[in-house]
Amino acid sequence: MHWFQYEDGRLLCEDVPLQNAAEEYGTPLFVYSQATIERHIHTIDGAFNDVDHLTCYSVKANANRALLKILTDYGLGADIVSGGELFRALRAGIPANRIVYSGVGKTDQEIQFALESGILALNVESESELRAINRIAGNMNKKAPVSFRINPDVDPKTHPYTSTGLKKNKFGIPHSEALKVYKEASAMSNITIVGIDAHIGSQLIDVSPYREATELLVKLVNEICELGIDLKFIDIGGGLGIKYGDEEPPDPSQWAHMIIPALKKTGCKLIIEPGRSLIGNAGILLTRVLYIKTNGIKTFVIVDAAMNDLFRPSLYGSYHDILPVTDTNEEKQIVDVVGPICESGDFIAKDRIISMPKEGDLLAIMSAGAYGMSMSSNYNSRPRAAEVLINRDTMKMVGRRETYDDLIGRETD
Ligand code: LLP
Repeated sequence: MHWFQYEDGRLLCEDVPLQNAAEEYGTPLFVYSQATIERHIHTIDGAFNDVDHLTCYSVKANANRALLKILTDYGLGADIVSGGELFRALRAGIPANRIVYSGVGKTDQEIQFALESGILALNVESESELRAINRIAGNMNKKAPVSFRINPDVDPKTHPYTSTGLKKNKFGIPHSEALKVYKEASAMSNITIVGIDAHIGSQLIDVSPYREATELLVKLVNEICELGIDLKFIDIGGGLGIKYGDEEPPDPSQWAHMIIPALKKTGCKLIIEPGRSLIGNAGILLTRVLYIKTNGIKTFVIVDAAMNDLFRPSLYGSYHDILPVTDTNEEKQIVDVVGPICESGDFIAKDRIISMPKEGDLLAIMSAGAYGMSMSSNYNSRPRAAEVLINRDTMKMVGRRETYDDLIGRETD
């Protein structure tokens, strides 16, 4: 569900024709719909209203300050994976006691920053990390609140690069070692154990793996309780899938249904860490067709957005719908939609049937709100795109386009 729709042949974001956005801010341009974000907050956070819970938005999906501000205004917290994300979350006004910190490679400086800030929990992913946290907290005369991220060895049935809860993945602590680390942590003077955590993968279309993972966590909670350790939180991570093409993603209530029955037996507060499901369909990437060329076997639609703006197609072979900003009656053709970058891997779509655009036309690359801007780069010295937020009939630039000076600003001769 999103607020990008046609009216009289023109594609609108809420009440604003996308053509106007392109004219005012140029292309490539990320366009976000506030109504869509708000709707997703209500449906996702609301699906868990039956239980005491905290929704921690996964900042890696899109770290734009204006979007973080909307999410925190609705009471959401943040799931972070770096000192940079912690900095952004705090700057956006997300209270530290609503921030959880995952990641297999937290540095001493990052751990110290998290402890100074007073975050809710560090989701610890190894015994070595636990010892580092205990040492750093000791030096600071603090007690560090920790949860352990457990690797449940559950198959999320998603892209191999976005599976995180299988034994062969680098994430978490094997569930067979969980009791050992909880015992070890309970004997440490600068650690307070607060919870247990898992994140099994991203873009899940089948929600049944959540049931498996939650049941495993709940079993561990009981065993940990027998050691005399009471847990406050069960964090089940993020990963709910969205619609990019013809997949039929589950409703957030189906997600909740997989988690809540097992969880209720524990009395723990639930933490969820959705990213893509909150923001993915709330954003598009607007691009202009520069040239069209054919070489006898293929037609290439060359646009001004590239893999540095939206890396997902190149990296995962991901599908993003491509819609004309002005609906045409042009015949459909099979084309490759490609960017200007010097790599054959620089494509937005391959062998895609689209209404044939003309040079100068605008195209909307759909579902680009999550893992679009946040995975963008300056490859080929391309300045990053601008970002605008639309709220009904108003447009606000929430990220200016980078300049050539920005490209060299950090460097010295
Ligand atoms: N929690 C943790 C610990 C995570 O690692 C992630 C995503 C999330 C929550 C949020 O997952 P979501 O609800 O957004 O699925 N770049 C890939 C996605 C990588 C996801 C990494 N972790 C893509 O473009 O599909």
